[in-house]
Amino acid sequence: MDNDQLPTANEPEKAPACPPQASAPPPLTVLRLQELQQQWLKEIAAAPSLDEVGKLRVRLLGRSGALRDISAAMGRADPVERRELGRAFNETRNSLESALGAREAALAAAPAVEKSGFDFSLPGRQPPRGRLHPLTQTVEAIKDIFMRLGFEVAFGPEVERDYYNFEALNIPKDHPARDAFDTFFLHDDVLLRSQTSTVQIRVMEKRRPPVRVIAPGRVYRPDTVDATHGFLFHQLEGLVVDEGVTMADLKYVLHEFARGLYGPDVRTRFRPSFFPFTEPSVEMDVSCFACGGQGCPICKRGGWIEILGAGMVDPNVFQCVGYDSERYTGFAFGMGVERIAMLKYGIDDLRLFLENDLRFLRQF
Ligand code: PHE
Repeated sequence: MDNDQLPTANEPEKAPACPPQASAPPPLTVLRLQELQQQWLKEIAAAPSLDEVGKLRVRLLGRSGALRDISAAMGRADPVERRELGRAFNETRNSLESALGAREAALAAAPAVEKSGFDFSLPGRQPPRGRLHPLTQTVEAIKDIFMRLGFEVAFGPEVERDYYNFEALNIPKDHPARDAFDTFFLHDDVLLRSQTSTVQIRVMEKRRPPVRVIAPGRVYRPDTVDATHGFLFHQLEGLVVDEGVTMADLKYVLHEFARGLYGPDVRTRFRPSFFPFTEPSVEMDVSCFACGGQGCPICKRGGWIEILGAGMVDPNVFQCVGYDSERYTGFAFGMGVERIAMLKYGIDDLRLFLENDLRFLRQF
């Protein structure tokens, strides 16, 4: 057992005798045979399928397989070793035979289980698919319409100063209009905003006209919670300021908005109203999208549904932010997002939006 390495072409005693060959087989020894056997057994154990075991069987035991080459090589082996080799050869053949059989049986018993233990035939796990909250979907739909009309989106803080929530919006201390917007005070001067109109002021403080923004966000009011009231809800505010803006612009933009939301045939009407920061003030109704205006339970038989408040910006508000009210005019509007979503989806209880019940949320 002096040599079980590949002979090289420049080994003088063998090279001249052999015809030029890419790689001559190493001389056969018992040790070499045992090495080969180990290697083959490993291959058999790792065979991933019955098909592969079949191929191995042909490659090892077939008519021109590896064992045939071995028995041919035995003839060229050292005569002293030949007998030993004969025994080793039989042992190799038997162990390959039984390893192939065992592997076939194992694969047949559990065809899909890999040696890693992972069953690739099992159905995959379906990751749960999320979706946007119905209120977010509603805000997105409203935003889309106003962005087509050239509006930008602005945001303001939910924890706000008295000044922005009231004072600058023409609601002085002790004014009865405060009652409608009374809110949660964290401090004498700091509160949870009760309307998104605060963002009108914050935007105008920062820039000069022309202004064309919408501002969606949360607002808070100490209302008793019921099917149509909550301590927290969402509003979407709008503000346009420029030279020469009139009530006709207000009506045009809000009518276009209604058409975007409810379809081209919707009709709108404007009723006089009051807000401290707009003059004149209006409320906008849309013809009932459920009955087309005939009268039904959704519009409470009236044929119209109120969806927002609006008006021409009061000159006092412009004064607060340093806009020249002789030069600039503008309009503002505000709507409740829950209300619009409830009407759109036929939801009859506002509390559902905050309960995070998946049976509810999955419907949108
Ligand atoms: N802020 C008002 C409210 O909360 C709505 C509104 C906004 C009205 C802008 C007019 C102009 O009721």
